[in-house]
Amino acid sequence: MLFAQFWLLPVVMALLRCVAADDFVPPNAWENKEFKKTIELSNSFTAESLELTVVNIDSEPVTQYFLPIPYDLISKISMFTAAYASEEAFIQCMLVPGTHELEDGTVVSYGAIQFEEPVAPGEEIAMLVKVHYAVHGTPFPSEIGMDDTQSLALEVNRYPLSPYTSLMASVDIAGAEDFTELTPAEIDDESGILLTGQFKYGPFHNVPPFKHSMANVSYPVDYPLITVTDLKRDIWISHWAHTAEFQEYYEIVNEGAALKDGFSRVEFMKRVQRTEGKGGNFIGVLGLEMTENSTEPYVTDKVGKVSSVMREESKLLLKPRYPIFGGWAYNFTVGWTNKLEDFLHISRTEQDAFLISVPVLNGPPDAIYRNAEVSVILPEGAEVLDVGSPLPFSNATVTREYSYFDLADGHAKLTFYYSNLLSELGSGEMIVKYRFNQAALYKKPLYIAYYVFGALMAFFVLVNMNLSIK
Ligand SMILES: *[C@@H]1O[C@H](CO)[C@@H](O)[C@H](O)[C@H]1NC(C)=O
Ligand SMILES: *[C@@H]1O[C@H](CO)[C@@H](O)[C@H](O)[C@H]1NC(C)=O
Ligand SMILES: *[C@@H]1O[C@H](CO)[C@@H](O)[C@H](O)[C@H]1NC(C)=O
Ligand SMILES: *[C@@H]1O[C@H](CO)[C@@H](O)[C@H](O)[C@H]1NC(C)=O
Repeated sequence: MLFAQFWLLPVVMALLRCVAADDFVPPNAWENKEFKKTIELSNSFTAESLELTVVNIDSEPVTQYFLPIPYDLISKISMFTAAYASEEAFIQCMLVPGTHELEDGTVVSYGAIQFEEPVAPGEEIAMLVKVHYAVHGTPFPSEIGMDDTQSLALEVNRYPLSPYTSLMASVDIAGAEDFTELTPAEIDDESGILLTGQFKYGPFHNVPPFKHSMANVSYPVDYPLITVTDLKRDIWISHWAHTAEFQEYYEIVNEGAALKDGFSRVEFMKRVQRTEGKGGNFIGVLGLEMTENSTEPYVTDKVGKVSSVMREESKLLLKPRYPIFGGWAYNFTVGWTNKLEDFLHISRTEQDAFLISVPVLNGPPDAIYRNAEVSVILPEGAEVLDVGSPLPFSNATVTREYSYFDLADGHAKLTFYYSNLLSELGSGEMIVKYRFNQAALYKKPLYIAYYVFGALMAFFVLVNMNLSIK
């Protein structure tokens, strides 16, 4: 089963919780010849790129390279990948149990990079590691006026954290127009240098293992921080109507700075006019990506059908009933329909076997999803054979969903539960393989006919009875 490959992350997380008390320091098998870390802040999440050149200084071959990660960030990791710099080949990555407490009390756990072949003593490896966190800076100050530009503050380590000695190390922060250090460094050497669109620490030489020094860096972010606290995405597959119907329910919140003096529509209109609607830490229009070639889009919310919706190719531009400022929330439902052929693949080798592949997410760009429940609801009588998800999920279930006029066994509903997803990673496609006999296609209409007939009969009997009573 494809299922098996994706259990790693949750299983390891569970393990982490059990053994958090164990002190673990990886064997000193490596030396970082070069360790260059870039923290990318141009999105509402945080992405770290590590360019590493490492040498095995042990007397024996080694298979694992460890990367300390602050313990409180472990559960916020969306993705952790590594690849060789020289060739486009991925290296296996995992989170491992075991923690270690640093001098200042910070607890770290570890990511491990597992080489397929043991690395010989003296051998050098150049690799590229990426870690995506569903985390952004905190608004600083936490409240601003309607016309102010929002700033976020993020705690960063001035050194790339490593259990090994680094001969050369540096940290670059990129993705904002300006950076300010809120807590100046105690040592001159450790002060950050402001370059255009970049803030730089280092290069440092001969950095000892676990060396760290925390800085608070603030930077302007003139856009809202969209967090989807809950998403319920249902994809109904119908062989009878030849459609795939999408329905998504969003609960979103803007995690940006709150309004200091409350909301004033007059002030808001003035601002919008002056800036021509550009910038600002509020959601004025929400761009929702749909699947390509979709038809019949609609948006509803608590009040009813939302009419301030405009379509732009495969995008729906939704103007919520009020601009969503920092700390404010909005719930809505969006739906659309596609032809089944856009996602359906028919197995050539297995009889009655079908494959559906659909993106894990559509929806707004640059958003963090705290909880997402993505379901594919198969036609009645279909049987799930196999499933696959391109992203790690916390669990998956197959249940039954009943709709109007269903047969007794209902539709097979397959649900993946995800946490800390990023919109940028959501275009990966989940796959459902199922068996569906075309004969099942005719069951439903027959069932409906039977009911209608039954209902007519009952009507007849009732009428006759009534007549007889009269
Ligand atoms: C960074 O700022 C936050 C909020 O002001 C504060 O709680 C934290 O202690 C600061 N961290 C450092 C390393 O100065
Ligand atoms: C959105 O839904 C959640 C859960 O039902 C509710 O707690 C919240 O108040 C709703 N928010 C708005 C703005 O309607
Ligand atoms: C969308 O429709 C166009 C034109 O009919 C077609 O060329 C394209 O392949 C379709 N895209 C998808 C994803 O089906
Ligand atoms: C799967 O995970 C979700 C969210 O964490 C939870 O609500 C649900 O109960 C879980 N289901 C099972 C069967 O564990």
